[in-house]
Amino acid sequence: MMNLSAEYLKKIDEIVEEHKDKKGPVKLMLHDVQKQLGYIPFEAMEKISQAAQVPVGEVYGVVSFYTQFTTEPKGKHVVNVCLGTACYVRGSQLLLDRIKILTNAPVNGTSPDNLFSLDATRCLGACGLAPVGVLDEQVFGNANINKDLENAIKRIIKEEKSVKS
Ligand code: FES
Repeated sequence: MMNLSAEYLKKIDEIVEEHKDKKGPVKLMLHDVQKQLGYIPFEAMEKISQAAQVPVGEVYGVVSFYTQFTTEPKGKHVVNVCLGTACYVRGSQLLLDRIKILTNAPVNGTSPDNLFSLDATRCLGACGLAPVGVLDEQVFGNANINKDLENAIKRIIKEEKSVKS
């Protein structure tokens, strides 16, 4: 196990402190750790388990149940493409294939430059907008027709290039 930086440990402590007296603290803490660190390191699960007074195995159970949580570091931006039935029949596999090429990230993996992680997910609960993709928590519907999701990804790539040049 890699040792976490002091900065990450401090962030985890702050998140735990913020939520420890709230109702249902485990999910709240996990959500914030995922958002701020990009993943849930084991050290965070231990701290959350102590603060919420639940076994660490139970915390791990929550992490592995919800696809929004990951135990591996993610890229700077996360793209989810729904492969649930409604999205699949409306062409989400094609969408996923195009985004894979665009981001250079393998499905359920991260691009070599760490700019994007790409995940294929189950139903996101927005079937009326199928096919659906999510970029950093922003939902894009009818994504095969309007190309808003792909345009948003292209903008990020362009911005990243201009920052580096
Ligand atoms: S199947 Fe994709 S949002 Fe429901």
